[in-house]
Amino acid sequence: MFDALKPQPQDKILKLIQMFRDDPRPGKIDLGVGVYKDATGLTPVMRAVRTAGKRLWESETSKTYTGLAGDPAFHAALSGVILGGSVPQDRIAAVATPGGTGAIRQALELIRLASPAARVWLSDPTWPNHPSIIRYLGIPMAWYRYFDAQTRGVDAEGMLADLGQVAAGDVVLLHGCCHNPTGANLTLAEWAAVADLLVARGAVPLIDLAYQGFGDGLEADAAPVRALAARCPEVLIAASCSKTFGIYRERTGLLIGLGTSAQRGLIQENLAFLNRQNYSFPPDHGARLVTLILEDPALTAIWTQELEEIRLNMLGLRQALAQELRRLTGSERWDFIARHRGMFSVLGATGAEVERLRAERGIYMVSDSRMNIAGLNAATVPVLARAIADIVA
Ligand code: LMR
Repeated sequence: MFDALKPQPQDKILKLIQMFRDDPRPGKIDLGVGVYKDATGLTPVMRAVRTAGKRLWESETSKTYTGLAGDPAFHAALSGVILGGSVPQDRIAAVATPGGTGAIRQALELIRLASPAARVWLSDPTWPNHPSIIRYLGIPMAWYRYFDAQTRGVDAEGMLADLGQVAAGDVVLLHGCCHNPTGANLTLAEWAAVADLLVARGAVPLIDLAYQGFGDGLEADAAPVRALAARCPEVLIAASCSKTFGIYRERTGLLIGLGTSAQRGLIQENLAFLNRQNYSFPPDHGARLVTLILEDPALTAIWTQELEEIRLNMLGLRQALAQELRRLTGSERWDFIARHRGMFSVLGATGAEVERLRAERGIYMVSDSRMNIAGLNAATVPVLARAIADIVA
């Protein structure tokens, strides 16, 4: 049997983790996988999470199964942060999932179950695991234009033109905020135009929300999701707590399905069914930490403050890098780095230049020249700027 297995393509983001570890150079810089790091290079356990963890350890009396959909208190707490009361409760079905990837996977399985012929439209470019899972599940796929390589902003005109081709019942995968990989995001007016178009075409948005609070703030980053939720009759939201609570390895995610109140029961039943087929009960530890934080106003305040510190730190690094590049090159060409939001920016370097940055300077970024801004600090910003100025044509 095993002889029939074929080698699988390596994930271009994850392969960097090993390459970086194997590099003996002391000054190497990791701008690969999307993990937040503080100025000392540590991915810290957030203070609110540590406190919630202690509380849980002292108070948890049982590790018996939760419900198939996970703990309803977790659904209520996290969907509150995401939707902020913008849709009535009786529209909301939800299941806990193993991380944001689990939520994406379950969303795609739900789509296949409900409508096997529906196409899923992806932004070009997108997180490489999106097309990978879609292909694996055999779901039809299409691409819409997203990134303008000249301005390094969103090609909103191209995007709207391509989404004008979407058929009724098709699904459009959108990054709710902090687009991965580009860092370029729609304005609220452009989001409204996308929502109008999806409603007019009868398409369903599937929103990947992995970085709420990393862009312009917790509320501002939720505005596009809330606008779509209010406008579109059917919406799927795949939310991740990995980055926003810094609980990467706990695998904590939530899939929300919004329909009419009459559809809600059926959506909920199918989401729970899919959990049962794939892994039975979803992981609970991370979800419980998140719930403890969000149900306690004092812990919520600590968490939001930490999240804001993270956001402002990344913003400061963006500004410092753009400024240093302006100083070194005398050009405004790199100012887009300060305009982008979230963890990532696509630099616009060629594959060969990315390879040179790695080989000659020990700087690791994804082959499409996506860099994780949070991998920088005050000392490495000038090093990266110098390398970009020297190597990127
Ligand atoms: C990333 O894009 O780097 C993160 O979402 C981590 C991952 O799983 O790819």
